[in-house]
Formats: sequence, C-alpha cells, structure tokens
Amino acid sequence: MSDVAEETPVNPYGAPGKLAPVLSDMWDKDKSWKLETYRNNGGYEALEKAWSYEGDEIINIMKDAGLVGRGGAGFPTGLKWSFLPPHDGGPRYLVVNADESEPGTCKDIPHLMANPHVLIEGMAICLKAVGGHHGFIYLRGEVVHVYRRLLAAVREAYEAGLIGKGRGPQGDYDIDITVHAGAGAYICGEETALLSALEGYRGQPRLKPPFPAAEGLYARPTVINNVETISSVPGVIKNGADWFKAMGTESANGHVIYSLSGHVKNPGQYEAPIGITARELFDLAGGIRPGHKLKFWTPGGSSTPIFTEDELDVVMDYNSVKEAGSMLATRAIQVFDETVSVVRVVTRWADFYQHESCGKCSPCREGTYWLRQILHRLEAGKGQPGDVDMLLNITKNIGANTFCALGAAAATPVNAGIARFRDEFEAGYTTPAWELFPYEKTPRFAEEGE
Ligand SMILES: Cc1cc2nc3c(=O)[nH]c(=O)nc-3n(C[C@H](O)[C@H](O)[C@H](O)COP(=O)(O)O)c2cc1C
Ligand code: SF4
Repeated sequence: MSDVAEETPVNPYGAPGKLAPVLSDMWDKDKSWKLETYRNNGGYEALEKAWSYEGDEIINIMKDAGLVGRGGAGFPTGLKWSFLPPHDGGPRYLVVNADESEPGTCKDIPHLMANPHVLIEGMAICLKAVGGHHGFIYLRGEVVHVYRRLLAAVREAYEAGLIGKGRGPQGDYDIDITVHAGAGAYICGEETALLSALEGYRGQPRLKPPFPAAEGLYARPTVINNVETISSVPGVIKNGADWFKAMGTESANGHVIYSLSGHVKNPGQYEAPIGITARELFDLAGGIRPGHKLKFWTPGGSSTPIFTEDELDVVMDYNSVKEAGSMLATRAIQVFDETVSVVRVVTRWADFYQHESCGKCSPCREGTYWLRQILHRLEAGKGQPGDVDMLLNITKNIGANTFCALGAAAATPVNAGIARFRDEFEAGYTTPAWELFPYEKTPRFAEEGE
C-alpha cells in the first residue's frame, strides 16, 4: 500500500487546556485489561491496518506524526526506528522499557495494569515496521501484579492468533513477545544497562557508540522504547499522523500522561495534549490542598530542576520547559506546599540516587555518597560552615563527568534546591529541618476533611 494519506477522523482532543484520554480512555472500562474489552473498543484494528503497509511506510507515518519518546529524553520515535541498518538476515529486536523507577514517575505501571493490550498491539506494529520478530518487555521486578497481568495478556494475544507464528495476511510473519521481570534497579532503566541485565549480566551501562540500533540486545540491531511511546503507536496508525499532530504545540505532538502527586487535592494521572500549562493541570487536579499554598514542584521527576509558582504558566512541552530552566522528562509533577522543607526533600532524593548508583564510575559512586552525607547533617541542623558551597562543588565535579546520566540526575536537584532556597540549606548549620518544618504538618491527609 503506497498511498497512506487517508481521511483524518475528527479529533476531539485538539484544544489545549483539556484532557485527551486516548490511552487512559480504557482505564475505567469494566475488565479493561481483557482482550475482549480491548477489542470491543477498537483494539487491534491498528495492527490489522499495519499489515497492509510496508515497514518503511509505517516508519514514515511515525516520523510524520512527530511522536517523541515518552521515557524521558524525548527522542523522535520514527527516526529511532529508521536508524536500524539494512537487513542482513539475522535477528533484530524490540525492547520495551518498563523499568519505571524515578521518584514521582508513576504512569507506565498503572497503564500496564489497566491496558496491557495496547502495548502488545504497538509492539507488533513496531516489529513489523523494523522487520523484527521478537519483542521483549523489561519490567521492574517489584510489581509482581503487573508481571502477572502482562503474562496473561500476552497469552491471550497468542491464543487469539494476534501474535505467534505465521501472522499477517500472508501467514508468513512470526511475532513473539517475552515478558522479563528485572531485579529492581533504577539503573536498569538506562537503556544499555537494561540490555546487559536482559542478557543476564550485571545491570551497568555500556559505552555508546555502538548504539543499540547498531548493536543492542545480543549485539544485534535493537529498538528500545518506553511503554507509553509504544502504546501511542496504535492510535497514530489507526487515526493517522494528522490526528496526532492536531494535539500539541509547535515543538511536540500528541497526547501524554502527566502524573501529579503530592499536595494537590486529587493526585493521579492526567492525560492531556502536550502543551497544557501546569496551572491548568493543577486546576484539573483540584488545586493545592485547601488552606495551603504552592511552594515548589518538579516538572519531570526528581532529576529535573524544581520550579515554583513563577513557572505555573510555562507551557508543558519540551522546548518551553527547557527554556524556563528545567526538563519535561517523564512529566512527573511532584507538588509540595509551604509545610515542606526543601532540604528534607532533596535529601530523600539524594538517598535514592546514592542507593541506586551502580558504582561503575567514581564521580557518581563517591559523589552521591558525599552529597548524601552533607545533606543529612544539614537536615539535622549539624551542618558545618561552607557545606552549601561544598555541595555545589561536588555537584560540579559530578556534572558531565559520569559514565551515564544518573550522576547528573543526582546532582541536579541539589543545585536547583540551593539556587531557589539557599537560606533553607544554610539554616541547616544551626537548626534541624524538622524544627522549621514539623513532620506532622506535611502528610497529605494530616488535616481533617481532606
Ligand atoms: C538512570 C536512567 C534511568 C532511566 N529509566 C528509564 C525508565 O525507567 N523507563 C524508560 O522508558 N526510560 C528510562 N530511561 C531512559 C532510557 O535510557 C531510554 O532513553 C528510553 O527508554 C528510550 O525510550 P523512548 O525513546 O521511548 O523514550 C532512563 C535513563 C537513565 C539515564
Ligand atoms: S553515573 Fe552512576 S549509575 Fe551511571 S555508570 Fe556511573 S556509577 Fe553507574
């Protein structure tokens, strides 16, 4: 099929400021995770359509749609698929990154629980596009309930003849899907560490190049994409690139899941067009809990520089958030009101990164340990004069000197916290954070009526 331009369905999701429940539309259906429910709601129609396209045609639709990766870096998906070298007769793989572990990021896990079949459908389409026959889902191991759900959904898809041997109109295309439960390490979300872990080795990042497109899983050409990225593929194929492009801004297209947690009235997942503002998202979530005011928030998870109310009107797309000094990343919006100590929050994040540092390179292995030590004494009101500058010095030395991005992820919240709230860190020379910001004021359900 060469003519891929078709009539674009009316798009109810074009207007910014509103929700766009495309993936999440299934979530509240009765037994949403079952194949029957998914099919009754148009599921697997995109795969049917994809069988009539050549691989390159699918890739071109993806490029035209402008879907960018939802795992953090925002790399164009169609372009990534096109990087695979020409076929040499050997295997080529798709690996879905379902390791979701960044503090505040909590979209892939509930999505997989509610709607696993859209991922399986997206995987089959991607494999057809890149000429691969085997896809893997690398899931963080702690979520055993999601693992079971994925296994059951994959089994359903095999039994219904949607995947397996001899698929497609000519009955000559094999598609196999393997679900793998990891051992629970944040670093295994980094794509090359993930590949090592999937191969059975210690989950530590590999040197790039070679990039996974050239030498990925078992040293074969491999596409690695996030759960939400691949789940967005069936909608694009079914409704067309123009439908997808009608949502978003000049710099990025489509619907995305924003995760709001913390001190908003109704925390949860809000799927909206890219480009909604944080103020609109906060409003959709019922605003800050009654009687309190916003102090700071993260636009994209704990590794992204914090914002305050000054940035509430920033358009939540990649370029605008970057221009405002942070990153959209995983769109994990953690919201903190005036009862929260910035030092305490940054210290908890530092605990996390130090614990998750894989130890391969010394700036991160040693640096995260030092950050944690100093932050703990500041939190306890036992800081030593010069500690705040010492923190900045350490983050500078971690900076771009680490083997993978985890080092920078650990340094960023410390820098950003000090840049915005230096006084609070310096107060840690004499006063414990728990005296300035008593614990009992902070819990979300601390106050009657909430
Ligand atoms: C320390 C670290 C952890 C990461 N964790 C995840 C993760 O849990 N899920 C994910 O999709 N991407 C994660 N990434 C990004 C991946 O390396 C990769 O860019 C992504 O899976 C590509 O998919 P996408 O193009 O669909 O976004 C992580 C990166 C780093 C450096
Ligand atoms: S930056 Fe940290 S997580 Fe990444 S390779 Fe170095 S030690 Fe490991």
